[in-house]
Amino acid sequence: MHSLIAPHGGTLIDRTLSGAAAEELRARAGSLKSVTLDNRQSSDFEMIATGGLSPLTGFMNSEAYQSVIDTLHLPGGKLAWTIPIVLAPEDSVTDGLSVGQEIALYYDDGATLAGTLAIDEIFPLQKELEAQRVYRTTDGAHPGVAAVYAQGSRGISGSIQAVALPPYGDFAAERLTPAQTRAAFGERGWNTVVAFQTRNPIHRAHEYIIRCAMEIVDGLLLHPLVGATKGDDIPANVRMDCYRVLLDNYFPPNRVQLAVNPAAMRYAGPSEAIFHALVRKNYGCTHFIVGRDHAGVGNYYGTYDAQKIFDEFDASAIDITPLKFEHSFWSIRDGGMATSKTSIAAPEERISLSGTKVREMLRDGIEPPVEFTRPEIARILINFMRSSG
Ligand code: ADX
Repeated sequence: MHSLIAPHGGTLIDRTLSGAAAEELRARAGSLKSVTLDNRQSSDFEMIATGGLSPLTGFMNSEAYQSVIDTLHLPGGKLAWTIPIVLAPEDSVTDGLSVGQEIALYYDDGATLAGTLAIDEIFPLQKELEAQRVYRTTDGAHPGVAAVYAQGSRGISGSIQAVALPPYGDFAAERLTPAQTRAAFGERGWNTVVAFQTRNPIHRAHEYIIRCAMEIVDGLLLHPLVGATKGDDIPANVRMDCYRVLLDNYFPPNRVQLAVNPAAMRYAGPSEAIFHALVRKNYGCTHFIVGRDHAGVGNYYGTYDAQKIFDEFDASAIDITPLKFEHSFWSIRDGGMATSKTSIAAPEERISLSGTKVREMLRDGIEPPVEFTRPEIARILINFMRSSG
């Protein structure tokens, strides 16, 4: 018997309108004050609209914002939530808005009507506190903290209604909403599904932990994040080519679903690991992979901080099972992938390259060793490096 995991908070949110209701909103939008979302806000809007951020129905108010910062839970204390979802345009925009007003929101192309927001509160953000609590640092050099600091000083909260998803041309076939991934899992008869979050081209360590996880569940949701990432991360369209070539050549199609996660990357390490897990629960997954330095950047987080944070929550506040993996590497001694849990390989018997080293090799047109990256993937990356100069 097929059954799907409940979304966070119990109900899959759908704020999208269709048919006459959408037409009515479009007609009304012309006379409303309009605000254009940036690419991060566009991602958040899409995620709220489609239920990826269930139980949120809009951008957070001060109570929810404060609760997330102070307790890492939504108001009421029963549901974990670790990343504030606020709409804070430039102050010059917010200055012209007031509580009770309905505004029209446009996606970051500036032309596509996203929907509306009914403003129920305008409140000051506490950026340094947010940075410290969520990102564990107030350093403006941290890309996630920099994005927090770059926002306006006030949040505009309220429920949204959506009439369109962002007008992406890329990989339309993989842009599945939570309702669509859930339907796909149902059709495949999967009860247990492990999600894999990634913002990088897949290398052998990723592949290893994915395969380990796949041994104990019905299926895999390969769910790369394709919203805003930092400038030196590999662009999403190039990564998608890598994922496709890996799946086409090595994975049984009836055990894998590829779809994209439209969220922006926060680089919030432990906080984002919880957030990533909750979002994947909304997409219908029962398990979530957390490896080394999940969603980390620089040296802000300890290698396993993103795993340890799961122990700070009641299981019922998260309700998706984290699958925690040690740093994995190619072991020359064992002739295969391993971790220190499974191998006695000495440090010099381990092949594990830093991201920086790999980037250097690719830029020089050198294929990293097959123990590190599949040649099919290395070739895509070398071509990309060449074409981007
Ligand atoms: S992340 O920002 O999305 O976490 P990345 O795409 O590199 O970055 O990682 C995807 C997932 O693979 C994360 O759960 C991360 O912890 C895990 N991971 C990456 N490299 C390794 C490795 N060598 N060993 C174990 N887990 C890893």
